[in-house]
Amino acid sequence: MLDRFSSGRMSRRTLLKGSTALAAASLLPASGAWAATPQILKPAQHRVQLLPSKYPETTIWAYGENSPGPELRLKQGERLQVKLENGLDQPTTIHWHGLRLPNAMDGVPGLTQDPVEPGESFTYDFVVPDAGTYWYHPHVNSSEQIGRGLYGALIVEEPNPPKVDRDIVWILDDWRMKQDGTISDDFVNGHDISHGGRTGNYITINGKVPAPLSVRKNERIRLRLINVANARIFGVNFENHDVKAIAIDGHPVEPHSLQYDMALLASGQRMDIILDCTGETGSTHRVLDIAYQNQERMLTEIVYEDTEPARPAPMGEVPSLPANPLSEPDLKNAARHDMVITGGAMGGLQGAVYKGEFQPTSELVKEMKIWALNGVAAHTTAMLPMFAFDKGSSHIISVKNDSVFPHPMHLHGHAFRILKLDDKPVPHAPWADTVLLLGNGTAEIALVADNPGDWLFHCHILAHVQGGMSSVIRVT
Ligand code: C2O
Ligand code: CU
Repeated sequence: MLDRFSSGRMSRRTLLKGSTALAAASLLPASGAWAATPQILKPAQHRVQLLPSKYPETTIWAYGENSPGPELRLKQGERLQVKLENGLDQPTTIHWHGLRLPNAMDGVPGLTQDPVEPGESFTYDFVVPDAGTYWYHPHVNSSEQIGRGLYGALIVEEPNPPKVDRDIVWILDDWRMKQDGTISDDFVNGHDISHGGRTGNYITINGKVPAPLSVRKNERIRLRLINVANARIFGVNFENHDVKAIAIDGHPVEPHSLQYDMALLASGQRMDIILDCTGETGSTHRVLDIAYQNQERMLTEIVYEDTEPARPAPMGEVPSLPANPLSEPDLKNAARHDMVITGGAMGGLQGAVYKGEFQPTSELVKEMKIWALNGVAAHTTAMLPMFAFDKGSSHIISVKNDSVFPHPMHLHGHAFRILKLDDKPVPHAPWADTVLLLGNGTAEIALVADNPGDWLFHCHILAHVQGGMSSVIRVT
């Protein structure tokens, strides 16, 4: 069971308590030119050496030869054109996670487009309004399609990016692997749905157990962290380095040192950090995942090359990134709304509205629908709207997690400010598209509903979506 964040008496080590799946099942030590014509992304099966070489190859699903799929990189204000050709034997779509795009390009089956059938194609074509670190993934049968390797990074560069020596993307994932090299196919799993989701036993960065990151003394690196795992929360700690967060979920934030010494990333979340390499030539420092109590694990190492420093001294102050063109919510006049999360194991769910009718929990369990948002368990992505907002209006949504599990709640098509977590103001009130509620926690978010259409607001723990944690916000 996961413990609750309560600041004051908490240490970072008690932020999350151990994940049973990982503790029980660790198989192995833990450990990425833009053309005018559309780029083709073709999800299909591939055989790759995912596990170390003493294990058999693994059949994964990927947008290229390997997972992650190709890194898409363009400049703010440019046009993205991608033709999805479905090479799977089941329908799929592409969702552009975090982008404020036209509704018809959002990739949600039944809500913004028809699912793309095997052998069929669909072209996504839109302008990217915001700079930052985003990602793409399917929105059909997501637990399996993402869990088998379908995802990639989408990087939108600032017109004048800040000066760094290197810009590196780390896509963090965990896989649920079996000894025979196959991906465990229990994608519909009652325990995962009712508990913390599908955690894996094999952690990768950019699809591999990472080699150490070799750096030069006084080098400045921009590291873009993306958590694409089905459920795992990462807390990335850089031993002996004071890294600075400069963007959260793509959007600039006042540069600041990491709270609890870790980049805390739930499923779907991103963070851009500046790593100033202030260590000594020849030294080695661990990069750890410290999110789960008593399960500290090494992800990789930073190794200082035995060469000349990149410059005589570190670069000094970390500059702020230019703001994205987001509308500032009018907090004084904003309309207020509540959203309550109920359900899960050890939860007090008495029942929920399912397919338009109230059903007792005993009935919901048979359908594996054991999560509800404001008393409604979703049976489809195309739900009737939970909230209907007028275009241009400001809103504050208070979300309350009446369950013991954490939930990263993700809103499509918009960015919101995180005003409060657990009733405490959040420093810098960062813009985000995904907010992590810890067990029995609360969050207060504010946004301007400025993008017309029906938009999902759902938990990014993909097994929880299967379990009913999905809703729609309509903007007209
Ligand atoms: Cu990254 Cu609706 O999801
Ligand atoms: Cu959830």
